[in-house]
Amino acid sequence: MLYIAPSLLAADYSDLKSEITRMEDAGANYLHLDVMDGHFVPNISFGADLIASVRRHTNLIFDVHLMISDPLKYVDRFIKAGADIITFHYEAVEDPMATFQAIKQKEIACGIAISPKTPVEAVLPFVGLADMILIMTVEPGFGGQSLMPECLDKVRILRREANRKGIKLGIEVDGGITADNAAYCTEAGANILVAGSALFKTKRPRSVMQAMREAARERPFIG
Ligand code: DX5
Ligand code: ZN
Repeated sequence: MLYIAPSLLAADYSDLKSEITRMEDAGANYLHLDVMDGHFVPNISFGADLIASVRRHTNLIFDVHLMISDPLKYVDRFIKAGADIITFHYEAVEDPMATFQAIKQKEIACGIAISPKTPVEAVLPFVGLADMILIMTVEPGFGGQSLMPECLDKVRILRREANRKGIKLGIEVDGGITADNAAYCTEAGANILVAGSALFKTKRPRSVMQAMREAARERPFIG
């Protein structure tokens, strides 16, 4: 099954409640929440208080993508705010495995993300441990960029490794995903698509999601 995760980063911030409802009605599975600190990435977005506010208005799964330094310091606040899954960046911490284990101890689903320059080998030890692995398809920090196709090779390697181990791994791709390139993502082995601009900047998010699901059906993982 394909999971679609609209990224709130591209929403109209003056009307978040109806923006989220619009995505829920269009058939979204997750709400992707991009937290940026102006330190790990050169941009600042929003934090736990905003997430807690919007939590009251939707039942979507909250997929919190922490693009922050020292994620462990803030993770309790995001759990309290209503995160269902928390993903931190491999590049943001000294010891990714220790950080992962510390987050898992809090009994929350945990994912690990890698930026385009980080090789996929970095996250292979997390196959079988992480609830999800996020492969960035743009440099983290800003919405509205174009997908870097070379990042999809990492998705393919990861899916092969998960299949080899017999593990049902969530592989999420994030950055520049559209209805037109969704097929490249799904045939590489991604099963969770994040999309900001492609979903929030259209009047017809339902059609875009339907096209993405069709792509996943027609172009499944090809090994
Ligand atoms: C980038 C964020 C993405 C981004 C996706 O740092 O992690 O989630 O908002 O937005 P689009 O789909 O516009 O690239
Ligand atoms: Zn993201």
